Amino acid sequence: MTKQFPKEFLWGGATAANQYEGAWDEGGRGPATSDTARSIAPEDRTNLGSEFTTPMNRERLEFALNDKEGLYPKRWGSDFYHRYKEDIALMAEMGFKTFRLSIAWSRIFPNGDETVPNEEGLAFYDAVFDELNKYGIEPLVTLSHYEFPIGLVKAYSGWKNRKVVDFFVHYAETVFNRYKGKVKYWLTFNEINILGMTGYLSGGLLFEDGKLNLQDMYQAVHHQFIASSLATKVGHEIDPENQIGMMLARMEAYPATCHPDDIMQSIHKDHENLFYADVQIRGKYPSYMNRFFRENNIELVFEEGDEDILSQYTVDFMSFSYYMSSVTRHPNNQTEEQKVTAGNLILGESNPYLEASDWGWQIDPVGLRVTLNKLYDRYQVPLFIVENGLGALDTLETDGSIHDPYRIDYLDKHIKQMYEAIEDGVELMGYTMWGCIDLVSASTSEMSKRYGFVYVDADDQGNGSFDRYRKDSFYWYKDVIASDGANLLN
Ligand code: BG6
Repeated sequence: MTKQFPKEFLWGGATAANQYEGAWDEGGRGPATSDTARSIAPEDRTNLGSEFTTPMNRERLEFALNDKEGLYPKRWGSDFYHRYKEDIALMAEMGFKTFRLSIAWSRIFPNGDETVPNEEGLAFYDAVFDELNKYGIEPLVTLSHYEFPIGLVKAYSGWKNRKVVDFFVHYAETVFNRYKGKVKYWLTFNEINILGMTGYLSGGLLFEDGKLNLQDMYQAVHHQFIASSLATKVGHEIDPENQIGMMLARMEAYPATCHPDDIMQSIHKDHENLFYADVQIRGKYPSYMNRFFRENNIELVFEEGDEDILSQYTVDFMSFSYYMSSVTRHPNNQTEEQKVTAGNLILGESNPYLEASDWGWQIDPVGLRVTLNKLYDRYQVPLFIVENGLGALDTLETDGSIHDPYRIDYLDKHIKQMYEAIEDGVELMGYTMWGCIDLVSASTSEMSKRYGFVYVDADDQGNGSFDRYRKDSFYWYKDVIASDGANLLN
């Protein structure tokens, strides 16, 4: 029997406005938190990419907004704003069934709190969705991906303020109405668990003393939960065809040993990570968080009716990003020799059985099957892998070719494990490879960390033609989609 993926499987690629769209000051768009992410020289970088996790304060924010010398690559991204037709044609050539992109909130509501939307911003996404529709590519749209209107940072102090819930729901309602019939797959917040780690980029929170304030962070998270549920409610009312999902940065944390304390430690790590999915899929705060809140003196403010909102308007499916796994060990079992490795949003102990990418992220295809099984066992809702891929250094040859066997190898191994998971019984809706056309890195704001099937001729300083070139992986992925994966699996 020929092995292949189901015909209806949604193959595609993923991007986000803040790293890909550019044109930060065109079309009436207002400034967003991502516009203040400065390019960091490699020698000044922490493993997590400095600006991404450093708590932002008012002084640094004003500095970035008025800075005439620093480089802020997310302001220009890959210039999708001006090149969307060319990019979508390339996606169609690969045979994409779906394309994940995000709407920049401040393109629709420049300050965040207006009642009337910016028509020019709405018209831009109309044009993008029409172009996708021309090729039969289904858009998968994230409402908030690592950006937040600066107007709401300054006037309302970000998501810790309950008023932001109303502004977000108004924004969601506006785009659900406008794009009814054009878009049916939606995600509310990208990697909602990252707000609990970084605060500023997706939450608009400022920390004047340079320290993350857990009370504010978790209150902001609570407000995003409520906003997501209310957006889900209104999204279903506007169009019952809408499928609305949550999105988690999945962090699979293997216990370092079979020492019972290490096993318990990995359960704690799972709780830290799955708390967000537990609320958004199961519809209530999990009991294990009570202890965490108590021990950290966090007292969340719930308004009357919040519990009902969370339980009534849960999501339709679960989406997640998966780049790597990690290893965890109880503090009492730490030894001097343990090697530390970098990773997506985390630093952790390195796994001796795995190799790492150019950026130190450990490559673990079987971990994807582990993750799919664990999530499906726990939630029993359809799953969607909306980010996975390899950030690597690519070379543009003089004849315009790019040879990226390392990327093909990474993707080949992960896709085979996805197939195994489907055979295990996991309900998997689709797969969108992260950064299908090269874009600016979220963590380090550099262009040279490339994920794409398509090379964008731009460097870390924003120099270059921004012309697009097909990599070897472009042709490879085209064959994967055309054969429903059969060319890899048989
Ligand atoms: C995910 C984000 O965490 O990882 C993306 O949702 C991001 O926005 C991706 O780009 C890869 O991370 P990085 O730092 O390599 O761009």
